[in-house]
Amino acid sequence: MRVVSGIQPTGNLHLGNYLGAIRNWVKMQEDVTANGGDCLYFLADLHAISMPHVPADLAASTREMVAALVACGIDPDKSVLFNQAQVPAHAELQWLLTGTARMGWLNRMTQFKDKSGKNREGASIALYTYPVLQAADVLLYQATHVPVGEDQKQHLELARDIAQKFNNDFAPKNENGELQPVFTLPEPIIPPEAARIMSLRDGSAKMSKSDPSDMSRINLTDDADTIMAKIKKAKSDADVLPSDAKGLEGRPEAASLVGIYAAMAGTSVAAVLSEFGGDGFGRFKPALGELLVEKLAPINTRFIELRQDQAALDAILRKGAAKARSLGAPTLEAAYAALGLVRG
Ligand code: TYM
Repeated sequence: MRVVSGIQPTGNLHLGNYLGAIRNWVKMQEDVTANGGDCLYFLADLHAISMPHVPADLAASTREMVAALVACGIDPDKSVLFNQAQVPAHAELQWLLTGTARMGWLNRMTQFKDKSGKNREGASIALYTYPVLQAADVLLYQATHVPVGEDQKQHLELARDIAQKFNNDFAPKNENGELQPVFTLPEPIIPPEAARIMSLRDGSAKMSKSDPSDMSRINLTDDADTIMAKIKKAKSDADVLPSDAKGLEGRPEAASLVGIYAAMAGTSVAAVLSEFGGDGFGRFKPALGELLVEKLAPINTRFIELRQDQAALDAILRKGAAKARSLGAPTLEAAYAALGLVRG
């Protein structure tokens, strides 16, 4: 197994990132490396320049994100932890893949539509070609599994389409005339109970670092008082909690809070409702807040320690990038060769 996934180092790590992706990164790190596989986790800093950004902030939040990931349990001795900017093969392979990706495929990407909004003409080219870079990120390493939240599923499907078309169009044949695929088709791994964690202010929008309201999300760096206050103010409704999951239909805010509880406690929605069914939010919210404080406090403490030592964080990225460069090199060369590009 070869597990590959990335996160943009913009803003804070929030509960959506943690429950949707990072928890699975940590889990897979243990299972996969114990069985001789590799896990590569990277900061998608090249993706981050697709939106307006402040360079000094990007550099600072890249280091903060390394500290946050290590605090969550990513072990740089077990996983390859790096940033794209130190592995030029990501950008090189992206260019090679832009010959295969089709305009029609990119035109269907919902993230471009969401992020460009009404200002499509003013959006950056990087925002448009972003999913091709994401395909390069995983195809470069022959990823077999990609742990992500549901919002990345469409990008992963595109990566599979690009890999398949490239293999069909350009893969070399062996002496028996059989295609020798250049790329592996990656599988997304999406946690069923936390595929899409919603905003605390609006049960129809996902929790996101780009939401202007900090009250819409729990950051992994929030202290106990902030977490309690955010949960207390979280949008809910006037009804009591139902005793089964069916009763959450049409109640997106209630469903989201119960989902967060279940994911965080490592149990099911049904189990949470069997405990809290019939209770109002006056009882459920403090219980949820306390659970979050209890689970996030150790992460927060480690994060505060780790972020102080910038030299150590840079060393983690340097070491990870050297490993990633060597793991990616054979596939990059195979892609150049398949396309007929002469490399000396
Ligand atoms: P990003 O930085 O937006 O998010 C990182 C991870 O967190 C997940 N996530 C969520 N999961 C559940 N509920 C939410 N509210 C929520 N918000 C975020 C995301 O699905 C993601 O798994 N384009 C990617 C980064 C990337 C990447 C890649 C990922 C670049 N190249 C290659 C996988 C493979 C992104 O912007 O994620």
